[in-house]
Amino acid sequence: VVDIRKLYAEAGVFTYDPGFTSTGSCESDITFIDGDEGILLYRGYPIDQLAAKSSFLEVCYLLLYGDLPNKEEMTKFDYTITHHTMVHEQLASFYRGFRRDAHPMAVMCGVVGALSAFYHDSLDINDPRQREIACVRLVSKIPTIAAMAYRYSTGLPFVYPKNKLGYTENFLHMCFSVPAEEYVVNPVLAKALDTIFILHADHEQNASTSTVRLAGSSGANPFACIAAGIACLWGPAHGGANEAALKMLETIGTVDRIPEFIRRAKDKNDPFRLMGFGHRVYKNYDPRAKAMQIQCHAVLDELGQHDDPLLHVAVELERIALQDEYFVEKKLYPNIDFYSGITLRALGFPVSMFTALFALARTVGWIGQWKEMLEDPHQKIGRPRQLYTGAQQRDYVPLDAR
Ligand code: ACO
Repeated sequence: VVDIRKLYAEAGVFTYDPGFTSTGSCESDITFIDGDEGILLYRGYPIDQLAAKSSFLEVCYLLLYGDLPNKEEMTKFDYTITHHTMVHEQLASFYRGFRRDAHPMAVMCGVVGALSAFYHDSLDINDPRQREIACVRLVSKIPTIAAMAYRYSTGLPFVYPKNKLGYTENFLHMCFSVPAEEYVVNPVLAKALDTIFILHADHEQNASTSTVRLAGSSGANPFACIAAGIACLWGPAHGGANEAALKMLETIGTVDRIPEFIRRAKDKNDPFRLMGFGHRVYKNYDPRAKAMQIQCHAVLDELGQHDDPLLHVAVELERIALQDEYFVEKKLYPNIDFYSGITLRALGFPVSMFTALFALARTVGWIGQWKEMLEDPHQKIGRPRQLYTGAQQRDYVPLDAR
């Protein structure tokens, strides 16, 4: 008879790390985070510099290929991505199989998984050429897929991409064009959304990226792996926090009610937490939150909404919390989600699209990490162990003898 406790006792070193808070699962050249200092680098470049000076498409190139492109490389990449934005026409029927009120994340999860039923020439993960095609297809088609999910939910017809538009402009066009009118993309709003995409593009081994890597480690095809990442991101503790932050600001409503909510956030008997505050890794100001705040002000100014009461609540809440001993001691600072909900709402997106926009932006990070994993000679199938806490070995007892 196996004595399970004795086996554990003799097993030597065994790491039990719920939530993997101190377990590295891979080596990666892509993203660096110093949570104590509030530093985030993509391939060595600080996020604030990329947010201010780069474009999302350039950041896609950087994440996928390791370096910023020169002019010729950028032109070629732009052309390639732009000319792969269309999806297979039959996918439209796939969308029509969903209820109109389906959550866009449910639709995206299904549609991205279904890409593996359409693009058979990019499923062989052992062929570098096919891997490359899969990366290009995912980055170029994901805005079309997200926009179609949005259009389907509103009952409006799907809009084809326009090749003369840039990546983010094209996405806005596919979301907001109305057949009877000429839609003109506002450059300030497009820049804000492009920056939001940059800020969400990668964040090392977070839950959804780890999910993509784990699914990919078994040799699953890239579209199935990204669908797994979308499923994980959908959770409120991961991709859904900006929605929760916006709802919280709406609940607080006016500046004079902030002290009451600060009090509640500090009360251990109250489950309420300040949404958009605190982070598992950042024990300092989330560097993405600063860039997000800049874009939030730019969008509201452009739209003449700088008097948005939610912005006033957010700014004042941040000011009060950052001076409060509880938040200072626990190193709770605003995270990326604190200002993103207000910004996305002002851009015209319904709350149900917030996580879908996150998925759109994170797709390049996911597929870049997937590609890196497959190119890693040390790559193995992911197989965490467990600490068994169940019954000792025992003999089966027939039903009538129990
Ligand atoms: N408001 C009030 N108190 C908080 C908050 C908050 N937002 N966040 C953490 N705390 C307190 C906890 O109560 C805990 O106190 P204790 O030590 O007295 O028990 C302490 O700070 C540490 O909190 P943990 O939950 O243990 O920290 P962890 O690193 O596991 O959690 C998390 C990080 C989940 C993000 C947490 O800060 C939180 O719930 N924040 C609100 C939700 C949110 O904004 N999530 C978005 C994260 S960013 C992203 O996913 C893109």
